[in-house]
Amino acid sequence: MQRVELSAFGLSNLRFNEVPVPAPAAGEVLLKVMACSINYRDLMIANGHYKTDIPLPLVPLSDCCGVIEAVGSGVSDFAPGDRVVSLLWQDWLSGPLCADQRTQSPGCETTGVLSEYAVLPATGIAAAPESLTAAEAACLPAAGLTAFTALTTLGQLQPGDTLLTLGTGGVSLFALQFAKAMGANAVVTSSSDEKLARARDLGADHTINYRLNDRWGEACFELTGGADVVVETGGAGTLNQSMAALGYSGRIAYIGGLAGFAGETSLMPLVIKNASVHGITVGSKADHLRMTRFVGQHQIKPVIDRECSFAQSIDAIAAIGEGAHFGKLVVSF
Ligand SMILES: NC(=O)c1ccc[n+]([C@@H]2O[C@H](COP(=O)([O-])OP(=O)(O)OC[C@H]3O[C@@H](n4cnc5c(N)ncnc54)[C@H](OP(=O)(O)O)[C@@H]3O)[C@@H](O)[C@H]2O)c1
Repeated sequence: MQRVELSAFGLSNLRFNEVPVPAPAAGEVLLKVMACSINYRDLMIANGHYKTDIPLPLVPLSDCCGVIEAVGSGVSDFAPGDRVVSLLWQDWLSGPLCADQRTQSPGCETTGVLSEYAVLPATGIAAAPESLTAAEAACLPAAGLTAFTALTTLGQLQPGDTLLTLGTGGVSLFALQFAKAMGANAVVTSSSDEKLARARDLGADHTINYRLNDRWGEACFELTGGADVVVETGGAGTLNQSMAALGYSGRIAYIGGLAGFAGETSLMPLVIKNASVHGITVGSKADHLRMTRFVGQHQIKPVIDRECSFAQSIDAIAAIGEGAHFGKLVVSF
């Protein structure tokens, strides 16, 4: 079978390699991979900007949808023919995160899924929603679940509340779709008026171009009276405006670093607004299963910017850094 391997940090060190199809050991399943989605994390890992104490060569990507070909001994929850998705945190099954539940994720600490076949522990997969194609289901594990836990477990978003979500990447558009399905109002920012028009088509109530208005957070507060939940994908470079956008008693779900990981800021606005900022690291398997039910109930279709072939997948990892996409980039086999 063919798989992609990263032999050393740097995108130019990604190559296709031919290896034997692996056999599942006890407690594992063998998947025939049908689709993978690419996350910003995958680009950071490949460039050595995420974690550097990981085993090389590494097969990239955490998120896939596939069909089970074979199961190892002791696997009773799944059978050959089942259509499943990978989970990002393989050992965070439920409850609040503990230190030993954030140690195993495909495409980083363990072998990833950009491969014609992949072996995963049976605990680290979940049934794919029947309402979704393989390409759509492959978008759920990281981007979908991160947005879902930001709005539910952390955000406690209620009907009539206001969500602010930054940019039009994978996490942000899931947040928009989930918020609208929950009956909330949604504000979306983007660097592109064309992308903002597409966000309005998806239900965004207000849109702000952050390139044209660097006080987009204050603009959001004026438009809405303050956001109840902010999906903070920008990080340190956007936090000041996110706090300006936040309503009294609001919650910032601190997720990404698209606008930088460190910077000068004062958290005093949180004191004044009796508000909070809370980190999110995707979610547990129990959260994933709740999201899957929600996606099915509300017939939510992940937004895919484009699907590429396995042969084009290395270029697609590079493309995520260009930021031209609206929603998810997917590799279909
Ligand atoms: N903590 C977690 O569990 C977790 C999980 C998933 C992702 N993440 C992180 O969250 C971030 C988003 O991930 P993703 O997969 O959604 O990425 P993505 O799909 O690559 O999103 C990229 C988009 O973000 C927007 N963006 C870039 N710079 C921005 C800025 N300065 N202000 C506002 N928006 C900006 C752009 O939207 P426009 O083109 O519309 O401007 C860009 O197209 C990344 O940093 C990722 O590593 C964290």
